[in-house]
Amino acid sequence: MKYKRILLKLSGESLMGDKQFGIDNVRLNSYALQIKEICETGVEVAIVIGGGNIFRGVQAEEGGMDRTHGDYMGMLATMINSMALQSALESNGINTRLQSAIEMKEIAEPYVRRKAVRHLEKGRVVIFGAGTGNPYFTTDSAASLRAIEIEADVILKGTRVDGIYTADPLKDKTATKYDSITFDDVYRKGLQVMDMTAFTLCKENDLPIIVFDMDTPGNLKRLLDGEKVGTIVQN
Ligand code: GTP
Repeated sequence: MKYKRILLKLSGESLMGDKQFGIDNVRLNSYALQIKEICETGVEVAIVIGGGNIFRGVQAEEGGMDRTHGDYMGMLATMINSMALQSALESNGINTRLQSAIEMKEIAEPYVRRKAVRHLEKGRVVIFGAGTGNPYFTTDSAASLRAIEIEADVILKGTRVDGIYTADPLKDKTATKYDSITFDDVYRKGLQVMDMTAFTLCKENDLPIIVFDMDTPGNLKRLLDGEKVGTIVQN
C-alpha cells in the first residue's frame, strides 16, 4: 500500500449529485462504498467534508451578512454533511468517529488530536467536522491543518475534475493534465488547487496533495493501489 494514513477531503457540493441543493443519497452511498473499499485494505482514513451544498459563507457576505456569522453557519453545514457521511459509512459496516471543532457534545466528540490518532490506529474512520472552528478559514484549510496534525502521508482532494490542467479544460480544448507538479509551479502558473492558506500549510509542511475525480467509482482505490489517478502536487 502506497500510503499508511490519508486525509480525504470531500466537496460538499459534490454531495448534491444531480440535485440543486442538499444531499443526494445515491452520491452519498457511492462515497461510502468507495471509502469502505479502501478501509478494507488497512489504510487509515480521516475525512474532512465541505458544506457548500447547504450553505456558503462567502455568498452570505455578498447578501449583506457579516462574514464571521456566515462562516460559522458554513461550519454548521459541514457538520450536517459529516453526520450524513458518518451514517452512510456505518450503515455499510464501517466504524467511525465524528469529531467537531466546535463543541456540540450531544452530537459529536470534541476535536482531540490524540484521540483522533488513537481512533485511526484502531481502524476507525475519523471525520473532522466544523472546519477549523474559526471563521476566515476554508474546509481546505481544515483538511490541511488536520492532515498535518495527525501526520497523514497525503491529502486526497476529491473533486469533479480528474486533476490539475494547464488551463480550464472546459474553456480551452488544448489544455492538458499534469500527472505531477511542484507547489512552486502551481504558484508560478497561478493554477487553482486550494486557497493560499491551505496550499501554504501543505507546502511548508511537505504534505503532498493529490487532486482526483471522486465521482468516478473505483478511482479512490485505484489511486491507493498506486495507479496514475489525478495530479500530485509536491515539493
Ligand atoms: P476507545 O476508548 O479508544 O476504544 O474509543 P471509543 O471512542 O470507543 O471510546 P469512548 O468511550 O470515548 O466513546 C464511546 C462512544 O461514545 C463513541 O461512539 C464515541 O464517538 C462517543 N463519544 C465519546 N465522546 C463523546 C462526546 O463527547 N460526545 C458524543 N456525542 N459522543 C461521544
